[in-house]
Amino acid sequence: MAAARSSAVENGAPRGSIRRPLLRSLIRFLLLAAAPLVAVGFAWYRSARLEERREAGLRALGAEGLFLFSSLDTDRDLYLSPEEFKPIAEKLAGLSPPAEFEEEEDRDPNGETLTVEARMQPLRMDTMTKSKDGFLGVTHSSLSGLRSWKSPAVPSTVISARQFRAFLPPKDKLDVGDAWWIVPSELNIFTGYLPNNRYQPPPPRGKEVIIHSLLSMFHPRPFIKTRFAPQGAVGCIRAASEYYFDIAFRIHAEFQLNDVPDFPFWFTPGQFTGHVLLSRDASHVREFHLYVPNDRSLNVDMEWLYGASESSNMEVDIGYLPQMELQATGPSVPTFIHDEEGNVIDSRVGGAGGDPVQFVFEEIHWKSEISREEAARRMEVTFYPFKKVEYLPFSEAFDRAQAEKKLVHSILLWGALDDQSCSGRTLRETVLESSPVLALLNQSFISSWSLVKELEDLQVSHLAALHLEKYNFPVEMMLALPNGTVVHHINANYFLDQTAMKPEEDDGTMFSFSGGFEDPSTSTYIRFLQEGLEKAKEYLEQ
Ligand SMILES: *[C@@H]1O[C@H](CO)[C@@H](O)[C@H](O)[C@H]1NC(C)=O
Ligand SMILES: *[C@@H]1O[C@H](CO)[C@@H](O)[C@H](O)[C@H]1NC(C)=O
Repeated sequence: MAAARSSAVENGAPRGSIRRPLLRSLIRFLLLAAAPLVAVGFAWYRSARLEERREAGLRALGAEGLFLFSSLDTDRDLYLSPEEFKPIAEKLAGLSPPAEFEEEEDRDPNGETLTVEARMQPLRMDTMTKSKDGFLGVTHSSLSGLRSWKSPAVPSTVISARQFRAFLPPKDKLDVGDAWWIVPSELNIFTGYLPNNRYQPPPPRGKEVIIHSLLSMFHPRPFIKTRFAPQGAVGCIRAASEYYFDIAFRIHAEFQLNDVPDFPFWFTPGQFTGHVLLSRDASHVREFHLYVPNDRSLNVDMEWLYGASESSNMEVDIGYLPQMELQATGPSVPTFIHDEEGNVIDSRVGGAGGDPVQFVFEEIHWKSEISREEAARRMEVTFYPFKKVEYLPFSEAFDRAQAEKKLVHSILLWGALDDQSCSGRTLRETVLESSPVLALLNQSFISSWSLVKELEDLQVSHLAALHLEKYNFPVEMMLALPNGTVVHHINANYFLDQTAMKPEEDDGTMFSFSGGFEDPSTSTYIRFLQEGLEKAKEYLEQ
């Protein structure tokens, strides 16, 4: 995003004759204005001109037309530069953007290739919350991209084995169980989020290329960099032999289902996961499988816009996608081979009058391996460092706390802590993954997080009732005795307000201990945990 913004600034330099009178009157204005007023005056002048242009645009194009225009106007100056016009030029001229910039070696005619097939069943519309009221108030055009997406865009394709080298581990991660970023996340709490108001994915670079081509088999507009965290792709060595790796992977990506003139509609599966079994030099791929897990009752987040700008209203819903997967039909094979006499034979056709060539593959004996579950857990911790401490299901956490005589550190949320939803994001990306908080949680607490809905369904449990009594929307952090009594709690919004306002003001009433951390939210959270321990002292010392 930073790159896009800075080029937008460059493009914002005055262009053409339209602006010259503006410049002249601006100079006159500057000469007249007193120095301290210049900045204010200029800002006012600019926003007044922008407002004028917006009104002119509205008159000329109407609301929908202006929206279309604005979606191309990346620097928001209400002029289109040639660069900004490019997507339209490509569309009208039928040129495709340069999606495939493969390196030479990928086209090695002696290299092996494999066939990958795509399968999907469309989203079950009746699982969306909005279906309960018959999609009342949802305009037809919002859902058009979703409704018309019934099958993979590309049911089958041939890919060179070499391209899968993007899934190979870096040189310093060659042990079974090692996890690494294939596509690193570029988002954090300081960079903010990528804009919603986009239709075309940016051209993929480097290791993104193969992931982009694979996901393009489902839909032509995959975004390899999601707008929100978690972002990126992680790999983990599940098994290794002398010549082969079995690499597990987890990818967070999303699709833009609508195109102009409809407003954007984002389709974000919980994750894409799977494995690729390949030789250490990526000349041969034995197995490849990629899929969206369907073992939960809901596995897709959807967000769509109701207007022209970033600040427009957004609708959010969730739903169930029964199937979305890619699978290799078999191991990769060379297209051309040489027979004993040195003749080149096309392996699909066979030798003189023969049948297609039958290949025999050596058996792989793993020297070392871990389970698929363990590989999944390691990738999860790479995406979510807060999971370095274990988060147990609600009732289990209280049992464990009872046995170990610890406090339960419990987070009660409206939306899930480890999905893409907004409520858990801020917490997860700050305090819960800071190392002092991780250390204290690990040492003195049993952690758990639950959805309000889940606890309401547990109504018989008095533990759940005691929890719900203290809950306030959207997220409440609680510290409870093993018998369910909540000794301390804090609302996430209150917590964030607090830490935003006062950086390092230790009132010293209870603990001077927490003063040393640089990050105010970390020290405030540590203090919260310490206060809970203090309040539970009697119980803990029994
Ligand atoms: C938690 O504590 C255990 C043992 O006390 C230790 O082995 C482990 O590394 C700790 N984990 C974290 C995330 O601090
Ligand atoms: C839980 O235990 C504490 C301390 O032992 C006690 O004060 C409290 O009343 C108990 N709460 C319930 C709900 O039993």
